[in-house]
Amino acid sequence: MSQQVSRKKNYVEVCFTPEDYSYFKGRFDIVVVIDVLRATSAICSAINNGLKSVIPVSTVEEALEYKAKGYLVGAERQGEIVEGFDIGNSPYSYMDPELIGKEVALTTTNGTRAINIASEAETVIIGSLINLQAVVDWLESQGKDVLCLCSGWKDKFNLEDTICGGAIADALINTGKFTSDEDSSVAAKYLFQSARGNYMGYLKSSSHRRRLKKLNLNKDIKYCLTPNQMDVIPILIDGKIVKMEA
Ligand code: MLT
Repeated sequence: MSQQVSRKKNYVEVCFTPEDYSYFKGRFDIVVVIDVLRATSAICSAINNGLKSVIPVSTVEEALEYKAKGYLVGAERQGEIVEGFDIGNSPYSYMDPELIGKEVALTTTNGTRAINIASEAETVIIGSLINLQAVVDWLESQGKDVLCLCSGWKDKFNLEDTICGGAIADALINTGKFTSDEDSSVAAKYLFQSARGNYMGYLKSSSHRRRLKKLNLNKDIKYCLTPNQMDVIPILIDGKIVKMEA
């Protein structure tokens, strides 16, 4: 499946939205799903905190089925906890020691849907700014073609996911072992290069950040935009997101 340029380099590309995924589907060994604000940051925080697994579900109805089966369930829509559910999508909700060793089913507006859309790929991992360097190092070690799938907002482009995808593409290309073909990847790299070192400042006007700010979720925003807080790499195995074993 690896498309080698003169058989020396692998490809790393950035896909702006799940809507565009069909253009990339089946061409990449590894898909990194990104939802910086907040789904993949919350999932990283959960796995880093020692949850056994996070089960990504796309609809509230599916989440209710898990709830009926006695699972812990997190559900978020429009940035808010869905009525009738205990937890939403705040990374802090998943730092509760009570959750260690537990399994949680989670549905969010965009992130969990993007994970399920990518689930046909050979390998699906969870990327965010908080585990960025760990993801880059692991991808470099794999020597395979990589797609960064941005969750966006309701199939629309968003800044923070694109910047995270751009950071991964930029770092892999700088190793000399990867190349990109798509303009989406070039644009993502340029956005990253102009935002690096100041994500909080650069993303002041991002639409979802403004949405979360209105919900007084500044603490979540700061957490999700602070890079390299952990080296955990969550991976999708048989429909469940678990900790990648070294
Ligand atoms: C999403 O899946 O759209 C986001 O993660 C929503 C959020 O957490 O605010």
